[in-house]
Amino acid sequence: MNSRATQINAEILSNKRVGSYNHMVFAVDGLAAHGKPGNFVAISVGGPTSSMILRRAFAIYRATMRSDGIGLLELVVAPMGSGSKWLASQQPGDLVDLIAPLGTAFRIPKDPVNALLIGGGYGSAPLFALAETLKQRGCRVDMVLGASTAGKIYAPLEGKRSVNSLTITTDDGSAGTTGRVSDVLPELIKEHEVDVIYSCGPMAMLEAITKISQSFGVVHQCSVEESMACGIGVCMTCVLPVEGDDGLIRMTRTCIDGPVMDGNKVLWTHSREIPDGVWGK
Ligand SMILES: Cc1cc2nc3c(=O)[nH]c(=O)nc-3n(C[C@H](O)[C@H](O)[C@H](O)COP(=O)(O)OP(=O)(O)OC[C@H]3O[C@@H](n4cnc5c(N)ncnc54)[C@H](O)[C@@H]3O)c2cc1C
Ligand code: FES
Repeated sequence: MNSRATQINAEILSNKRVGSYNHMVFAVDGLAAHGKPGNFVAISVGGPTSSMILRRAFAIYRATMRSDGIGLLELVVAPMGSGSKWLASQQPGDLVDLIAPLGTAFRIPKDPVNALLIGGGYGSAPLFALAETLKQRGCRVDMVLGASTAGKIYAPLEGKRSVNSLTITTDDGSAGTTGRVSDVLPELIKEHEVDVIYSCGPMAMLEAITKISQSFGVVHQCSVEESMACGIGVCMTCVLPVEGDDGLIRMTRTCIDGPVMDGNKVLWTHSREIPDGVWGK
């Protein structure tokens, strides 16, 4: 488990609707100093008497320390089920029980590289802070965001400024290129001579990106979104078959050994079953 993880009652400072999402800002004291792009938070939803006992996972959009010592944590929440709708309905001044930062972060190259960042829906959330970090390292950063429709693309103005180019795809053609991110990927990899892909979004999208990145021999770091019940490594809900450096395939907890993983090491086609050859089967 992330050794920096802390449980706190965080005050909501703002909650604004942006397209299909809620952009939420929390006061989190010094905890913000440790939140890196790729880490996530686990939030208790529904209040103290709720029957929703499982925490919900949200990627950190941005974690910053203000000069006055106040730490800020920003999330992008898609109100879909009962827990995320409850969270999105909370108001400034309300307190929320959260544990952060959790999980692994995107690895940052020591030397400048050409990076392509790919987000599906709210999967763009951790990519803007990542883009800023990569830019500070001298990297070229191009970005592709895809969603079913224009309203589900999350791309704030300040985020757009941190990338060299932004390509949008939508399934229904309401913005950008009609189709999926995987449709435009081969051309972008060639055009920008991409060395490394960073991605976050639905599992099917990550699997499709892995196939393409493998065919080009490009490194693919992806943030997987497997269902999580505890978020802290106890329940084994979030496991995926992943090949280790020793060649053994293990059912691996994505909440502590992920969510950021090497896409080439995940056995995507077996993600809902324990495949033959897994250690211990
Ligand atoms: C690492 C990570 C990052 C994420 N980042 C974001 C983000 O930035 N923004 C965003 O909007 N969403 C994000 N999500 C998705 C978000 O966690 C879910 O949308 C949210 O949990 C839905 O909760 P709900 O109550 O609204 O939905 P519901 O469908 O009502 O409930 C879903 C909950 O049911 C439980 N559950 C589901 N399947 C199982 C299972 N197989 N076994 C046990 N329990 C199960 C889990 O607790 C799950 O959270 C992320 C998920 C992960 C894993
Ligand atoms: S969510 Fe419980 S072990 Fe990963």
